[in-house]
Amino acid sequence: MKTLKVHGAAGVSNILIGESLQNLQNYIPAQHAVIITDTNVRDLYQQDFPPCDVITIGTGENIKNLATVRHLYEKLVDLDAQRSSFIIGIGGGIVCDIAGFTASTYLRGVSFGFVSSTLLSQVDASVGGKNGVNFGGYKNMIGVFNQPEFVICDMDLLQTLPAKEILCGLAEIVKHAALGDAGMFNYIEEHYQKALALDRDVIAKLVYDSIVIKSSIVNQDEKEQGERRKLNFGHTFGHAFEKTTAVPHGEAVAAGMVIAAGLSVQRGHLPAPEAQRIENLLKKLKLPTRIQADKNALLEALGKDKKRQGEQIHFVLLDAIGHAFVEMISIAELAAAIKNPGP
Ligand SMILES: NC(=O)c1ccc[n+]([C@@H]2O[C@H](COP(=O)([O-])OP(=O)(O)OC[C@H]3O[C@@H](n4cnc5c(N)ncnc54)[C@H](O)[C@@H]3O)[C@@H](O)[C@H]2O)c1
Ligand SMILES: [Zn+2]
Repeated sequence: MKTLKVHGAAGVSNILIGESLQNLQNYIPAQHAVIITDTNVRDLYQQDFPPCDVITIGTGENIKNLATVRHLYEKLVDLDAQRSSFIIGIGGGIVCDIAGFTASTYLRGVSFGFVSSTLLSQVDASVGGKNGVNFGGYKNMIGVFNQPEFVICDMDLLQTLPAKEILCGLAEIVKHAALGDAGMFNYIEEHYQKALALDRDVIAKLVYDSIVIKSSIVNQDEKEQGERRKLNFGHTFGHAFEKTTAVPHGEAVAAGMVIAAGLSVQRGHLPAPEAQRIENLLKKLKLPTRIQADKNALLEALGKDKKRQGEQIHFVLLDAIGHAFVEMISIAELAAAIKNPGP
């Protein structure tokens, strides 16, 4: 097991990479603990849960809302959960985002921890202290910054993940390498087949390296005022693709990274062969590098981007593989970049 720390305003989060769900009991710092999980994770792993109260929610992005949070508050009241109780989210990004938000607001905040059960959640969602739910058609509109006491990343849980979910995690792993670690990028190029086959050692290294990058950025800028924006590499177009087509997040981000790398080349920052390497690696990982979308709908989605300021967007570019920076780019220039989104 390897450990990393995330330092937030509200406390320190211990990330335990390679720890097991079966040891969760050792980390619960309270007499009374409540597990929040989803139906899939409960059905697969209930036998390994410690003896605690369990609340089960449904699955899918459209249950990540205030109605589910309200349901959880009601259940917590029924279970007589107190300020001294402890909440544990066991699941993917949806469970962790909802459980973290519910814990942070119930009784003005009770302590919480996560057992992260998807690759995407291990490398991204459960690390960094963003907790929240969707609202009014917008993703993650309502939420708080608050750090879990611990995050257990149990590699064994990944073995039951559907292949599509693995791909989503791999996209965020490539993102971390592209924006922050050239050596890691080389490693993925060399070991992509083992990564796709979920080789335990390769995945454990990629999860660890990803969290090193994400945690070091969050440690500098928890609330996304500067440095943390780099974690949005590929996400401006990624979110727009996600909103306008039915593609999953990771796939949308993969195509978004290709556009961002292309813009980096066009603006004279990144040598073209480096952008090509990113595209080649995504293809090897079976991720899409082009997504067909309606241009007008895409532009409308870009106009609603959270990172927009007037007619400009804080856009993440690369000047090398392993080094990102943020530049203001006009919506008009982004519109030109998507003139021919097809393959
Ligand atoms: N807070 C953040 O910083 C942050 C960052 C990135 C993404 N997110 C959020 O994360 C969410 C996506 O997370 P996700 O991709 O983990 O999705 P998810 O939580 O929906 O999990 C994907 C699917 O896998 C199932 N599952 C979970 N663990 C499993 C396992 N071990 N074996 C088999 N099936 C399993 C789930 O039931 C679900 O059906 C989005 O809502 C996104 O907004 C948050
Ligand atoms: Zn993402």
